[in-house]
Amino acid sequence: MNIPLSGSSFSVPYEIAAVRPLRQTTLAEREAALRTAYFNTELIPQDLIYVDLCTDSGVSSLSTPQLAALAAANCVEPGMGLAAEGSRAFARLAEQVRSIFGFPYLVSTPQGRAAERIWSKIKIKPDTFVAGNLLFPSTRFHIELNGAKIVDVIGDAAHDLTGEEPFKGNLDIDKLAGAIEEKGADRISCIYVELSVNACGGHPVSLANLREAKKIAAEYQIPLFLDACRILENSFLIKEREAGYQERTILEIVRETCDLADGCTLSALKDFLVSSGGLILTRDQSNYQMALMQSFLDGAQLAGPAMEQLAISLGDIFAADHYVKSRVDQVRYLWQRLKEHDVPVVSPPAGHAVFVDVKTFLPDLKSEEFPAEALAVFLYRRAGVRVTKGPPPAPSQMARGVELLRLALPARKYLHGHLDDVAEALLYAYQHRNEIKGLRRIEAPNRSKYEPAHFSSL
Ligand code: F0G
Repeated sequence: MNIPLSGSSFSVPYEIAAVRPLRQTTLAEREAALRTAYFNTELIPQDLIYVDLCTDSGVSSLSTPQLAALAAANCVEPGMGLAAEGSRAFARLAEQVRSIFGFPYLVSTPQGRAAERIWSKIKIKPDTFVAGNLLFPSTRFHIELNGAKIVDVIGDAAHDLTGEEPFKGNLDIDKLAGAIEEKGADRISCIYVELSVNACGGHPVSLANLREAKKIAAEYQIPLFLDACRILENSFLIKEREAGYQERTILEIVRETCDLADGCTLSALKDFLVSSGGLILTRDQSNYQMALMQSFLDGAQLAGPAMEQLAISLGDIFAADHYVKSRVDQVRYLWQRLKEHDVPVVSPPAGHAVFVDVKTFLPDLKSEEFPAEALAVFLYRRAGVRVTKGPPPAPSQMARGVELLRLALPARKYLHGHLDDVAEALLYAYQHRNEIKGLRRIEAPNRSKYEPAHFSSL
């Protein structure tokens, strides 16, 4: 799967320039950590974790140019006021963003959810609907907070955990058209499409599908927005899987994807290798000005050094396609190791995470015994590997009783040795699945429902 370069292959397009030592914990230490954390792996201190797969967001390793920019941070002006154009860091970021994504206007924010909050305030009207494809919980939350309801129009393949359909993130175009006819076009605030749909397994959306969605959007004059956090991996999977795109560069595919959208929100913490940063991208000058003003009022502006980091990262990523290839290859390596031993993983493999189908893994545990959390506890106890249940599933998944455990791979962080250890831990868990005990949630009247759950072992 390596791209031949003048007769040889370069699997990994970077080398390690700085390392963080990892402590080897003992079984007794991990058992004690689990008890102290009330069997919630989210609460285990990072120092006691060997491989951390709870998220790929904001945890990727920095490149040497990014580190150099950090060191020079004091020389960079702080977060901008209203006149974004006056900022040196903004100018660098804007140049990269415009040349890659093709949108003339951008507002930068500290995170993706801040971009969604601002954009939803501007674009979501009360008592309307948003057609989406299993949108991420933060996107859903901001849409609903502004008084709209979400109509799920993802294709049924999204709920099939084993089939090989290459674009399970696709919208069902008949469902989309049906929803518009039923609700009335004037009551649809927008069509919001998440690329590499996290909720169902990181599955991509094809360009053919986006084109069809755009056609309908244009016909009914409904704006089409992207949640483009994982546009890089989505584009890589298009290059691999969609007819006609094999000879295209990732940059060309990213641009073609963006050309089909009226606007974008994105978190740069995932595909774009920074620990802070989000973007609103638009073609509409007045929307841009409103979003910029709203980011000012909300105190949701990105600081100058973080803009520098993002600008550098975007330049590095799009200079060649090797980075994204090595990232997706790594995810696929772990997926393959599990699949070949029949561990029930969601198919086909995605670009940022491997998803375990917990219901098939632990068929005897009832949902009120928290099987995903129980498997996470077993893995930590055995191998110091942290996984967490991750973002909550979408309502249509809950209705189907889907239970997934996400192994999210931080970019550029782990070596195959780490992934082999993760695979061994999962294979061991699968062989000993009959020993995995469920959990009971501890209900304490003095704890708020917003606090992390506490469990006891059954
Ligand atoms: N959209 C998607 C598809 C996401 O995965 C996330 C975050 C967001 C929006 C929000 O971005 O965190 O910068 O505010 N996903 C993280 C995860 C939290 O672990 O998948 P954010």
